Amino acid sequence: MVNMRTELSFASLSGIETELLAVLAADTQAGKGPDVKPEPVLLTDDAAVKAAAAAVLASGEYKAGANETLLLHAPAGLAAKRLLIVGVGKLAKATPNSVRSAAGTAVRFTKPRGIRELAFALPVAERLEAGASARAAVEGALVGDYDPDTYRSDRKDQSVQAFMLAVPAGADKRAVEAAFGEGAIVGESQNFTRSLVNEPGNKLTPTILGQRAAAMAAEVGLKAEVYSTEKLHELKMGAFWSVSQGSEEPPALIVVRYEPEGVGDGPVLHPTDKDPSAGTPVLGLVGKGITFDTGGISIKPSDNMDKMKYDMAGGAAMLGAMRAIALLKPRVRVIGIVCAAENMPDGKAQKPGDVQTAMSGKTIEIINTDAEGRLVLADGLAYARQLGATHLIDAATLTGAVGVALGKVNAGVFSNDEETYGKFQSALEISGEKFWRLPLDEEYAELIKSDIGDIKNTGGRYGGASTAAEFLKVFVEETPWIHLDIAGMAWVEDARPYIAKGPSGVAVRSILEWVRSY
Ligand code: BES
Ligand code: MN
Ligand code: ZN
Repeated sequence: MVNMRTELSFASLSGIETELLAVLAADTQAGKGPDVKPEPVLLTDDAAVKAAAAAVLASGEYKAGANETLLLHAPAGLAAKRLLIVGVGKLAKATPNSVRSAAGTAVRFTKPRGIRELAFALPVAERLEAGASARAAVEGALVGDYDPDTYRSDRKDQSVQAFMLAVPAGADKRAVEAAFGEGAIVGESQNFTRSLVNEPGNKLTPTILGQRAAAMAAEVGLKAEVYSTEKLHELKMGAFWSVSQGSEEPPALIVVRYEPEGVGDGPVLHPTDKDPSAGTPVLGLVGKGITFDTGGISIKPSDNMDKMKYDMAGGAAMLGAMRAIALLKPRVRVIGIVCAAENMPDGKAQKPGDVQTAMSGKTIEIINTDAEGRLVLADGLAYARQLGATHLIDAATLTGAVGVALGKVNAGVFSNDEETYGKFQSALEISGEKFWRLPLDEEYAELIKSDIGDIKNTGGRYGGASTAAEFLKVFVEETPWIHLDIAGMAWVEDARPYIAKGPSGVAVRSILEWVRSY
C-alpha cells in the first residue's frame, strides 16, 4: 500500500493551489423542530472562502449535517480547483471527533474521483482546540484513506497521495506541529492493525502473524520474541495449547517489549500493590490472536464463518498500539503479548468434556470448543503477570453476546479496578472510541463453576459477555485489569462516509491513550 503523504501548510486558505480544498461547516441553529431551519456556517476566518460558499449556504440546500458533503467547482476567488464543504452537525456539539470523521469523509470523497491530493482547513471554532483538531484530522484522513481490496487484481490504487492540513493564522504553530506528527503515527498504526485483520486465514497463520509482529518490532525499535509449541509446553500453557492442538498450524506466542531507558530500573510495583508510589508500573497488553475460528469440534454454522478470519483483531490491536507506543515513547514500560492459534476440528482437536490445566494451575472443563478465546487469554494473562505486568489490558473478539448487547455502536469494557477503569474512561475522551462498561459480578462467576474441575469455559446463553469476562478474571486474580470485548466492533459491516467496510482497527487508539496516561 502506498502511504498517504501528510503535510502542514501555513499559507492563507484562498491562496492554496490544490485540486481540492475541504472546509468544515457547522449548524449554528440551536433550536429543534419541523419549522426550525439549519443555519450552516463555514468554520474558517478566510473571507474569500466564505464568499465562495455564501450563496449555497444561504440556499438552504445544505444543512451541514455530520459528514454531509457539497462540492463546488472553480470556486470564485480561490486558487483551489474545487471547494468541498464537509458538515460536522450542530456547532454546540462539535468535538475533535467530529473533525476526525469529517477529515475521513473528505478523503473518502476524494479517492474515487481520481483526485490525488487535497488540502483540509483546520477548523476555526472556539470549541475546537487547534492541537486536538489537527491530530484528529490527520488520524481521520489516514483511516479514511484505507481500503481493504488488497487482493483485487484490478485494484485501482486510488490512495490519496497527499493530504495537506491548512493551519489558520492564529493557531499555536508548535502545538499543531506536534499534534500533527502524533496523529500521523496513530492513524498509520491503526491502519497497520487493519491490514493484519484484513488478511485471510490462509495468508495469515499464527506463524506469519509472529513474523509480521517481529518485522514491525524491528522497524520501530521494539524487542520481540516469537515462541511456539515447545515454549507453550515449557510454560505449561495447557489452555492455550488446547486450542491449537487441532490445527496443522503451530501456535505463536508473541511477546513484544517496550522498555524506555531509565524507566523501571528501580523497584517494580507488585501486581497486587495498588499504591503507585510503591514502584513503577509495568503495563501488560494481551491480545486474542485466533487467525481463524471454525469453532473446533463445536463447529460454527457455515453462514458468515468466513468472517472468523478477523478473530485475531484483539491481538492485531495490541500490535498496532505497541507500534504507536514505540514511536510516541511514553515514560512507562509495556509488554505486549499476542496468543495466536488456529481453532480447527481434527482427529487431534480437543473435545467437549475435556479437562485442561492452565498455566496458573487452574483446571478448565471444556464445554464448548468454540469458547476458545478465553482459553488462549487465560494463559496470556497469567504469562503477562509472570513477566512482571502490574496492570493489565486485554482486547479480544471474545463473544457474539457483546454484539447482541451493544450492537455495532459500542464495544464492551469490563474492569475489576475503579482507578484503572477511570484512566481508560479518560483515554476514551481523546481516542473518540465508544466503549460501554458491562458488569462483572459474583453471580456471573457462579455460572462458570464446574462439577469436575475449577471452572468451565461457558456459562450458558444469557450474560455471555459477562461470564466470559468472569472467566478471564480468574486468571487476572488481583491485578488491576481492563477487558475489551470488541467482537461487535472489529469489522465494519456497512461503510460509513469516513471509513471503509472491513476491518475497523478499533481499540488501538484507546489502548494507546490508556498507556500514555501512566
Ligand atoms: N470468535 C468468537 C466470537 C465472535 C462472534 C467474534 C462473532 C466476532 C463475531 C468466539 O470465539 C466465540 O465463538 N464465542 C462463542 C462463545 C460461546 C460458545 C460461549 C459465542 O459468542 O457464541
Ligand atoms: Mn469461537
Ligand atoms: Zn473466537
